[in-house]
Amino acid sequence: MASIVDAIPPSEQQSSAKPKGGVYQINHPLVQRHITWMRNEETRPSSFRHSVRRLAVLMAYEATKDLPIEPVEVQTPVAMAEGVKIQGRIGLVPILRAGLGMVDPVLDLLPMAEVWHLGLYRDEATAQPVTYYDKLPNERPVDVALVTDPMLATGGSVTAALTALREWGVPHVKVLSLIASQEGVDMVAEQFPEAQIYVCKIDPVLNDQKFIVPGLGDAGDRIFNTV
Ligand code: PRP
Repeated sequence: MASIVDAIPPSEQQSSAKPKGGVYQINHPLVQRHITWMRNEETRPSSFRHSVRRLAVLMAYEATKDLPIEPVEVQTPVAMAEGVKIQGRIGLVPILRAGLGMVDPVLDLLPMAEVWHLGLYRDEATAQPVTYYDKLPNERPVDVALVTDPMLATGGSVTAALTALREWGVPHVKVLSLIASQEGVDMVAEQFPEAQIYVCKIDPVLNDQKFIVPGLGDAGDRIFNTV
């Protein structure tokens, strides 16, 4: 079982050391309150989407704590002030469809980020990921990729995404998934020990159809009202 830590200790934030891979669970009351709200089958799509957006912001706040920064100076209306800018290129990589629901709120925090979509769906019969859209280039990888997908069930879709990012040559990958299964995060963490996997909640099991239990149903269908 992958070891799970509570976000990133302050001592490791913004250090020059390579960020430590692993599974980071965000045990914040606001985060857990939104997850509880989303689990409820009576939560309507508009309210479900709202919670996805709020959680994307809270997760991105945690997941970007260790981004490298460099000093800059800025002229205020009064005097020069010291500030910072984020180093390097950041790519948001939403896994279609459901990952799209997390893009705009994260872009609000990181307006300079590039968005590289990956189209993957899970074959209902085999539960294996099928790629239907991948326009990642062969060169000039981003420095940091933030993969967004509300659900990590078997881990097959995230594994396919991380494999594509590894082929592109992305050195630093962060996964933002709202809810995951224990076996899914264990599998991804084992195959990609350098990746940072952020989750709000890890549920114990998958059912026969490879759905997370208790989970929250199909996030894509609930976001886009196609249940
Ligand atoms: C869901 C979910 C993940 C994937 C998780 O997508 O959004 O992408 O399944 O399952 P896995 O970890 O077992 O691969 P789905 O295939 O339902 O597509 P959608 O986002 O278009 O609804």
